[in-house]
Amino acid sequence: MSGEGVMSYWLDKWVAGDTKWHESEVNPYFKEYFPKLCKKSSQGSCKTLLPLCGKSLDLKWISEQGCEVFGVECSKLAIESFFQEHGLKFEITNLAGSDVYKCLNQPITIYCCNFFLFPSIVGQGVTFDFIWDRGSFVAIEKSDRKRYAEVMLALMRPGSVHLIEAFDYDVGDGCFEGPPRSLPFKEVQKLFGDACDYELLDVLDKTELGRQRFNCNFSSFKVGYYHGVCKK
Ligand SMILES: C[S@@+](CC[C@H](N)C(=O)[O-])C[C@H]1O[C@@H](n2cnc3c(N)ncnc32)[C@H](O)[C@@H]1O
Repeated sequence: MSGEGVMSYWLDKWVAGDTKWHESEVNPYFKEYFPKLCKKSSQGSCKTLLPLCGKSLDLKWISEQGCEVFGVECSKLAIESFFQEHGLKFEITNLAGSDVYKCLNQPITIYCCNFFLFPSIVGQGVTFDFIWDRGSFVAIEKSDRKRYAEVMLALMRPGSVHLIEAFDYDVGDGCFEGPPRSLPFKEVQKLFGDACDYELLDVLDKTELGRQRFNCNFSSFKVGYYHGVCKK
């Protein structure tokens, strides 16, 4: 089963407190793009999903914009830290064998499960208006990418928006192969084929930062924002 073999890698990282990917602020690019790209319902909501959400601050920010937000995360420790660090009360229920953490005072729900099983847990046909893919597509194994795209498509309907923060770097001499893994724009286009239209919103040259952070002499290290709209 996709994801299962590597989940212990991530669970160990949470236990060791080795969570360098975690940002102490709401993602500034997401803050800029979300209001422009989300299509709110007449009730003013935009049902948003954060796959592999960790304890991202973006979850709370989205709920403060009046939108229902759902996260999927395999680490119970990450989920409970999220609620505790924000002083948010929650209740735990069980759905198809997975714990579901529902916030009592904000529209935030986090499923504790393997993301690859998420559609079968929530039920086929459950879809989202917006998917914020930060530290998710780039975190999974390259061999799981096709399956990941299939799971994403199962969670989208025509008009659903997929916003990805991705890295694009050379893995030439193999000094760093991730995670985060390199995910070129063209690969996303290829994986989703005719099902979604993707455009490149922005590309930032972060070569110096990438070299320092990952201790590797990349010839180029870029951060890209890919915007997809589902057509199927
Ligand atoms: C690189 S972190 C990114 C977390 C978050 N998106 C952020 O930006 O802070 C990847 C997260 O995915 C979780 N994870 C990894 N594989 C998973 C899987 N198959 N199903 C659910 N969660 C998973 C890990 O526990 C970890 O919290």
